[in-house]
Amino acid sequence: MSRIVYVNGEYLPEEDAKVSIFDRGFLFADGVYEVTSVLDGKLVDFDGHAERLARSLSELDMPTPMPTDELLEIHRELLRRNDVSEGMIYLQVTRGSDGDRDFVFPDPKTTAPSVVLFTQSKAIADSPAAKTGLKVISIEDIRWGRRDIKTVQLLYPSMGKMMAKAAGADDAWMIEDGFVTEGTSNNAYIVKGGTIITRHLGNEILHGITRAAVLRFAREAQMVVEERSFTLDEAKDADEAFITSASTFVMPVVEIDGTPVGTGTPGSVARRLREIYLDESVKAAI
Ligand code: PDD
Repeated sequence: MSRIVYVNGEYLPEEDAKVSIFDRGFLFADGVYEVTSVLDGKLVDFDGHAERLARSLSELDMPTPMPTDELLEIHRELLRRNDVSEGMIYLQVTRGSDGDRDFVFPDPKTTAPSVVLFTQSKAIADSPAAKTGLKVISIEDIRWGRRDIKTVQLLYPSMGKMMAKAAGADDAWMIEDGFVTEGTSNNAYIVKGGTIITRHLGNEILHGITRAAVLRFAREAQMVVEERSFTLDEAKDADEAFITSASTFVMPVVEIDGTPVGTGTPGSVARRLREIYLDESVKAAI
């Protein structure tokens, strides 16, 4: 069944929604995005995603296309029109098109951004992978230096997922100077001696909205959290490992490069954090 999507002020059937071939998102990957999860027909951490969107836009000198309350209304309208109770909403803002290909940014006063949103209906809370855990491989992190900006340059993460698939794994963790940066589309964590360890914030990783919430819940539950770099060897030797993202929430990792992590089954910290995160997110969703 065809979805109703949003494109530049209009709600249209997906087959009628169009953007220019000169759109800078298409020609230069000159755009940013957000993925917000939907539980019980409501948006999880919408404010966090709206704030990060504003930051990504500002870091790239792109004006904010509309106030946050209008953006919220579009998200809600798409959920209504597509009758989505669980899944994700994808939002993309690009620098638009001034009708030709030019490396120099067009003047934002005369070139409007392109704004696109669409829904993805999917059972994400009751995911089978949460029970079995994921297998990851390690790959070199060769992305650009501003991974804190959520741009649509996703070719390398996409290649990483293909490398994982070819190796019979589910995903890849990226390594820079021996240290794990993050997963291809998620933040990475290990647990050792009861301490939750995840890389500190910086330009090297995306500042996950799920990461912020999970670390808050962990601290509230008196768990010990260390925000610091960890090596691949440390990860293989950890008691457990997991990832977080808007589409996976908290997901256990049970194998790294063929080495079982801990018992090789989902760990109790990851399981507990997933439960807390889901409970709290449903309560706070808007
Ligand atoms: N990915 N790191 C990277 C590189 C990501 O692409 C993502 C999100 C995250 C987790 O961020 P958050 O918790 O805000 O979802 C970390 C989204 C889900 C995607 O590209 O589909």
